[in-house]
Amino acid sequence: LAKVEVELSKIPEGKNVVIKWRGKPVFIRHRTESEISEANATQLSELRDPQSDSDRVKKPEWLVMLGVCTHLGCVPIGEAGDYGGWYCPCHGSHYDISGRIRKGPAPLNLEIPQYEFEGEDLLIIG
Ligand code: FES
Repeated sequence: LAKVEVELSKIPEGKNVVIKWRGKPVFIRHRTESEISEANATQLSELRDPQSDSDRVKKPEWLVMLGVCTHLGCVPIGEAGDYGGWYCPCHGSHYDISGRIRKGPAPLNLEIPQYEFEGEDLLIIG
């Protein structure tokens, strides 16, 4: 059973945490109100891989996604890039605060793994 439990109370608002799940990095961001607003304000027509923020999260304050660039699989850097999200240094892909691809060679948004919340404080990935 390759599940990983994460205690959410240990991740302050505005911070990223990276954990390992099935040998891959998973990014967890505790998003701020302004980041959530920004993610929701983006028009789908601006997106290469159109997906609304609400289709990518179960709770708006918690963004959970695989930290694997959809171009050739490097690990993007958090709090970087032109869109306030992640930047992949391998070939210059920029992802926004919802993990959606905005610029550079990557074709798709960062992938969302299976996860659930249990109670107020537990995130279970897998
Ligand atoms: Fe990320 Fe190429 S692997 S831009």
